[in-house]
Amino acid sequence: TQTTAGRPINEPGQRKQRAQITARTLRTDRWWLAPAITFAALASFLVYGFWAIFDKSYFVEPYIAPFSSPCLATSCPEGARFLGLAPFGDWWTLPPGILILGLPAGFRLTCYYYRKGYYRAFWLSPPACSVAEPHKKYTGETRLPLILQNIHRYFFYGAILIALVLTWDAVLALRDANGNWGHVGLGTVILWINVVLIWAYTLSCHSCRHITAGRLNHFSKHPVRYKMWTFVSKLNRRHMLLAWLSMYSVMIADLYVRLVAKGIVNFPFA
Ligand code: FES
Repeated sequence: TQTTAGRPINEPGQRKQRAQITARTLRTDRWWLAPAITFAALASFLVYGFWAIFDKSYFVEPYIAPFSSPCLATSCPEGARFLGLAPFGDWWTLPPGILILGLPAGFRLTCYYYRKGYYRAFWLSPPACSVAEPHKKYTGETRLPLILQNIHRYFFYGAILIALVLTWDAVLALRDANGNWGHVGLGTVILWINVVLIWAYTLSCHSCRHITAGRLNHFSKHPVRYKMWTFVSKLNRRHMLLAWLSMYSVMIADLYVRLVAKGIVNFPFA
């Protein structure tokens, strides 16, 4: 017996079997829209990031572009160096942004939400629910290289460091070019909005939620961890939204600083 769509129906007492569907999908809605949008958005972020990492206009008092911070090479201008440090010597000829790229890139690449996004949008594995994937085999994240996705928790610790650095950059953006505190330019506002969204995204991480109170059997015995977990859980519900907002906020903040540094944006209170 078959349905009108050609799927076999199990008769009572018959052994259950998977539906043998020849069509790639029986979905009639626009299931391709979400992966297509994800593809375009992530691809634009990658293209921008590639350009930004090699762009040299990343610093203008008192702002530093987030993609190039912390600036840790001797090629960094004096005021751009993080806490005045420059542990990477002149032998390092690549742009300073590359030195620290691994932490934020690794954090987003191994993020549970982004994984879902790019598995669907780039690898079509599968492109959407109830849509067959083009690949013959499915091994999930059980072997190399995808088993490495499990190191996400360690990238989370690195992301905390990056968020602290960006917070420090936002604090320094409250000084004017002469070092006097109290400056509030458009760049200051943009950097602060970005750092708030970066913190919200970082703390909404699933690993963070597990770190705060995962494996606890008795919340009542750990009231502080329970409170932290409650807070993180609220953010966690918005993790997807925060992933997108923070991705665009960091891109906008980075671009803005570079435009000011290049003199393209040039108005009072820039
Ligand atoms: Fe998305 Fe950790 S799960 S950042």
